[in-house]
Amino acid sequence: MTKRRSQHWFGGQGKDAFIHRSWMKNNGLPDDAFDGRPVIGICNTFSEFTPCHVHFRGLIEHIKAGVLEAGGLPLEFPVFSCGESNLRPTAMLFRNLASMDVEEAIRGNPMDGVVLMAGCDKTTPSLVMGAASCDLPAIVISGGPMLNGRFQGREIGSGTDVWKFSEDVRAGVMSEQDFADAESAMSRSPGHCMTMGTASTMASMVEALGLALPGNAAYPAVDARRNRIARMTGRRIVEMVNEDLRPSAILKKSAFANAIRVNGAIGGSTNAVVHLLAIAGRVGTELSLDDWDSYGRDVPTILDLMPSGRFLMEDFCYAGGIPAVMKEIADMLDLDALTVTGKSLRDNIETAQNYNPQVIRPRDKALTAQGGIAVLRGNMAPDGAIIKPSAATPALMKHRGRAVVFEDIDDYKARVDDPELDIDKTSIMVLRNCGPKGYPGMAEVGNMALPQKLLAKGVRDMVRISDARMSGTAFGTVILHAAPEAAVGGPLALVRSGDIIELDVEARKLHLDVPEQELARRRQSWKPPEPAMRGGYQGLYIEHVLQADRGADLDFLVGSRGHAIPRESH
Ligand code: FES
Repeated sequence: MTKRRSQHWFGGQGKDAFIHRSWMKNNGLPDDAFDGRPVIGICNTFSEFTPCHVHFRGLIEHIKAGVLEAGGLPLEFPVFSCGESNLRPTAMLFRNLASMDVEEAIRGNPMDGVVLMAGCDKTTPSLVMGAASCDLPAIVISGGPMLNGRFQGREIGSGTDVWKFSEDVRAGVMSEQDFADAESAMSRSPGHCMTMGTASTMASMVEALGLALPGNAAYPAVDARRNRIARMTGRRIVEMVNEDLRPSAILKKSAFANAIRVNGAIGGSTNAVVHLLAIAGRVGTELSLDDWDSYGRDVPTILDLMPSGRFLMEDFCYAGGIPAVMKEIADMLDLDALTVTGKSLRDNIETAQNYNPQVIRPRDKALTAQGGIAVLRGNMAPDGAIIKPSAATPALMKHRGRAVVFEDIDDYKARVDDPELDIDKTSIMVLRNCGPKGYPGMAEVGNMALPQKLLAKGVRDMVRISDARMSGTAFGTVILHAAPEAAVGGPLALVRSGDIIELDVEARKLHLDVPEQELARRRQSWKPPEPAMRGGYQGLYIEHVLQADRGADLDFLVGSRGHAIPRESH
């Protein structure tokens, strides 16, 4: 057997081994902890600023128990925690920073394999991106969703009902007091958002990619089965080290195709698009924006979860979770794909059952016949833009309307409720300078709220276009990720209020009906906006971030740099 990676620190005699072992002994480790057993890093994204991970201190004990039972040595390490609800200007700005932290922490430390503790939206992709760039055996355990929210006798969903309630307050149909009361009724247990928002989507994506044990995505954070799967994850990573089962063996094109199809079936978040593109980039698997359309186009959305449907993650868990969904669409998946179990997807879902056809619908009763993500192109987004048809209004999917342009998020906030704003329900709201470089960090502002005067008239959806993202918990006829973004001179920068825009989702078309000559004239007078920050990490980000169609990774982070043993430190 070749010498374990960790033994290059802990094995042998002499000054260096003395240093590495001696200081570790202040953890209380006995001599035999260094006898060549697999050292398992447990990457903990606990932070009190990341409320979705509030239970991680308890969860990690179950992972450690599993590692010990399998004969490994568990060692916890912290990394930057991207909490969605608090980080400004947007957690997405720090996804790549966290991925660097993870990559370097794994490579620089004496570990043979790693358990990635993820949950809140950006934590999952950041950890997987970092681990993929190192390519040591790695397995994901998600923190699990919160219990269903309950308010005034009905179930309410994270995010999704915030958007609804706040529009109801603005429309004058919900009181301020009820709005305040809903706050504590929505997040009533540990866990991440329990709608099919980005956290639940990314937990589902890692399961579909084969990076987590079957059932990982849906067990609620407070369900004892969450602790059990944590323990099994701890045991399994030790075996994976012994088998040298690494992310590069799992993250093949077929795994991404499976994940894209599962995303269609579950009505998953649009954010999965940039995250999977970025993860694929880290392992060198060719994945394009168009793959999202071609693999996902004919997949029906069969999971009836908010924001596209009615139920929540707790219901999904009881219905059978991701294995049951994959079983329903098994003919659309590559069942030979290898997973962290060391077995194929086929083996993993063999005994899966759908226990509630209301929640996981049969295909002939799908929520949307064509789920997935539609990739739009045209002179407004030559490098693509996306829409989630299952969350959109069918009548607006083919629409021609007059643009009402907001220069940036501040301009939008200043003018959207101006009674004099020249806008009606057929208008198309355009928001720019909210992309990767422009915001910076491509914030979740694409599902901009409608003008109060239209809400008061009962309007609840309009076509909206931006270079931003939107929360996975959001809904509406919202076109996102327009590339290239306005801040680098993409065509979105050239639209003017009053221009006519044509949207045809079926034809995958997004067209600005302005002659090319006129656009060329406008392009000549365009000036790039001032960057929000110079220097520091944010300056580095603005300089190096790739566009949305390339996953918004930093250009110098694309690819895998492996886990060769670095030089000795003394
Ligand atoms: Fe953490 Fe939604 S805020 S998952």
